[in-house]
Order: sequence, then C-alpha cells, then structure tokens
Amino acid sequence: MGNSLLAFILLCTFFSGNAEVRELKVKITLIANRTTIPAGGSVTLTCDLKERSDLLYQWFRETLPGNKITLDDQFTRVISISKEGIYTCRGWRRDPDLITTESDPVTILKTVLAAVKLQHSWSQIFTGETITLRCEIQGGEGKVWKYEWTAPNTNSPPTSSEYRISRVSVSHSGDYRCRGSSDYLLTGWNDAFTLTVSYKPKAKLRADNTAVPVGGSVTLTCSVNPSSSSGWKYYWYRDEKSSEALTTQDAVFHSNGQISVSQEGLYRCRGGRGNPVYYTEDSQSVRIGKTVTASNRPVVTLYPNWSEIYRGETITVRCEIHGGDTEWDYEWETNSRIKAPNQNEYRIRSASSSNSGNYRCKGRMKSSQHKTTEWSDSVTLTVSD
Ligand SMILES: *[C@@H]1O[C@H](CO)[C@@H](O)[C@H](O)[C@H]1NC(C)=O
Ligand SMILES: *[C@@H]1O[C@H](CO)[C@@H](O)[C@H](O)[C@H]1NC(C)=O
Repeated sequence: MGNSLLAFILLCTFFSGNAEVRELKVKITLIANRTTIPAGGSVTLTCDLKERSDLLYQWFRETLPGNKITLDDQFTRVISISKEGIYTCRGWRRDPDLITTESDPVTILKTVLAAVKLQHSWSQIFTGETITLRCEIQGGEGKVWKYEWTAPNTNSPPTSSEYRISRVSVSHSGDYRCRGSSDYLLTGWNDAFTLTVSYKPKAKLRADNTAVPVGGSVTLTCSVNPSSSSGWKYYWYRDEKSSEALTTQDAVFHSNGQISVSQEGLYRCRGGRGNPVYYTEDSQSVRIGKTVTASNRPVVTLYPNWSEIYRGETITVRCEIHGGDTEWDYEWETNSRIKAPNQNEYRIRSASSSNSGNYRCKGRMKSSQHKTTEWSDSVTLTVSD
C-alpha cells in the first residue's frame, strides 16, 4: 500500500513536471492467464517486458467502448483483476525519465449467471394457458443485454429477456435455455428449465349429500386434478344453461373450493387461474334435491321384547316401517360403542356392555333418495353382567 502510494505520487510528478520524457520503443506484452473471469473468480495479468527489470508499471482498463481509465492503485508487473474490460499496460521509470509504448490490448470477458424462470410459480402447466418465461441475469442490472434462447418447437425464439407463449400445447414441452451478452459481459447457457405441458384438466365436483335436509344445506367441493397443480380459483354454476357464476347471494363460499347450498338444482363447477383467466373443463353435473319426509314413521322393536338383557344373550334390534310396499334403505343412530350396520335388522349374537345404548332409525326410499322418514323414537337397550 505504501509502495503503491509512493509510486502514484512519483507518477503524478513524472507526468506533470517533466517535458523531456524519453519513450522507449520496446515490445511490451500483456499476458492474461485466461481471458474470461469466471463467476466469482479473477484473472492474473502480467506486463511482460523482458529487457528491463527496473521499471514500474501503469495499467489501463476500457470499462465501456471508448471509456478508458487508469488503474491508480496498481503499479506492479503482475496484477489480479476481477472486472471485465479491455486492458493495456506500460512501463515507466524516473531519472532518467523513461516510458515504454503501450502493450496490445487484451479483452477480458466476465461470466455472470443467468437462469430461466417461469413468471408464475405454478408447478404444472396445461394446454391453452399463456405463460411467460424470463431470462434473469444476476448482477445484470443497468446494462443493455442481448438475449438468445434455445427452445423446443420453434425456429425463431425471441431475442428479448421475456419469452411469452400464448396458448401452450403439449409440443411446447421440453428444455428452455437462455444466455445474454453485454459489454465484455456474457452468460453461459444456463441449466435448462424443463417445461411440462399437460392436457387441459377437468374439475371434479364432490357432494357430501345430494339431498338438502329440511332447513339445512349441503356442502359441495370443487377440485382440479392433478391436485399438485396450484393457483386455482373455483367458479360455480347452477342449471345447465347458466353461464353466470354463482355469487355470495346464491351460496355460502368457504375456502378450498367448498360452498354450501340450500337450493335444489343441477350444479357444476370449474377452476380458473392466470390473466387472462384460463378455465379447466367443467366438472360433471350433480343434481341436488330437497329432502321430502315420508308420512310413515318407523318403530324400533326388540326381539325378544326385553329392554334389559344379560351379557352373552342374543337379541335383535329391528326397524319397522309400516304401510305400503315401498322398499327402504335404513339408517341407524346409536350412542352405543358398537355401531349398528345400516340394515333393517341388527342381530346381536353375544351381547356385551358395548351394545348398551339408545337406538333409533329412519328409512330412505330406495326409489327416491330424497324421500326419508322421520327418526323413530329411541329405544334403550341395557346389557348387564
Ligand atoms: C489465473 O489467476 C487467478 C488469480 O488471479 C487464479 O485464481 C486462477 O486459478 C488462474 N487461472 C489459471 C488458468 O491459471
Ligand atoms: C314389550 O311388549 C309390551 C306389550 O307386549 C309393550 O307394552 C312394551 O312396550 C314392549 N317393550 C319393548 C321394549 O318393546
């Protein structure tokens, strides 16, 4: 550092004070140990002047075409640099004052990193979507860059930093690479970004129940397969002809693509994302009806007719619906630890305390699932030791 400062002061007095500088016309060569600075690396420059060893050195760098600066902190024969540009050097000495010609210029390029990024952080892309890929150059701000792309399915990739593909198709799947160049700066071909375009997905509608209970609602769930795709908003429609999506006046909207509805109708849904919105195919339609209560009320009976039995005994709990020859499906509700299967008869072969509890049942018409009976009265079964 002290030496550099001294050399600098000497150099200043040299150029300001002395008119009688002798120029030494010798061959001076600038040698670079390599001509490209790798990302984060450096290059060694040597100012080679074989005949003389008693000289100091002066270094020049062209930072942009036509803009040459003197490196005022480098005076040695060998220097290490980490900036791009065109370099030259020369030697000089004081007393007797002497300066050599300048070396031939050596262009030192610098490598910076580039990466292809997808504008949205979607992990899956579908046919018909519009996407934008970006070539991002680290530390490339404030420079004018030229871009090059390699891409499948095109002979004329763009020459800008953005690569927009309208309505992608499966044939756009493949590897995308970009590189850029600017004044003495360049990027390599970066690691490929692999685009996978899948066929247009279909929405799926799931209903927890297709009959709205009296005074209640049913929950509908819309999803897009594959579930790994992200960023979807869900749109709901009621009745075949309607193209107007349901609003908060028609349904209660929950997160995760769920809504609760209390109106009957034919429901369908679809997913959408992006700008302009890209829609999935519609889900299948699901008819939601209203529950109608049948007049026959079931009765729970026990065979044999003992509401208290002993462990190990056998008993049958039966749901009886009288009147008509309607066929029914049966539902049981019990607070016993062992649940009854949904059949009209529940036969307990060897009773245990786990069968103790209240039992009630209801019927659902086989021909019209929207028609149910009311719940029967509860019957209590007690299993004693
Ligand atoms: C060139 O010099 C730099 C130090 O300035 C060193 O890190 C690098 O390994 C050298 N490269 C070669 C090819 O000798
Ligand atoms: C048993 O039968 C009698 C009459 O036969 C009836 O009063 C009673 O409610 C029945 N009990 C049960 C648990 O079914």
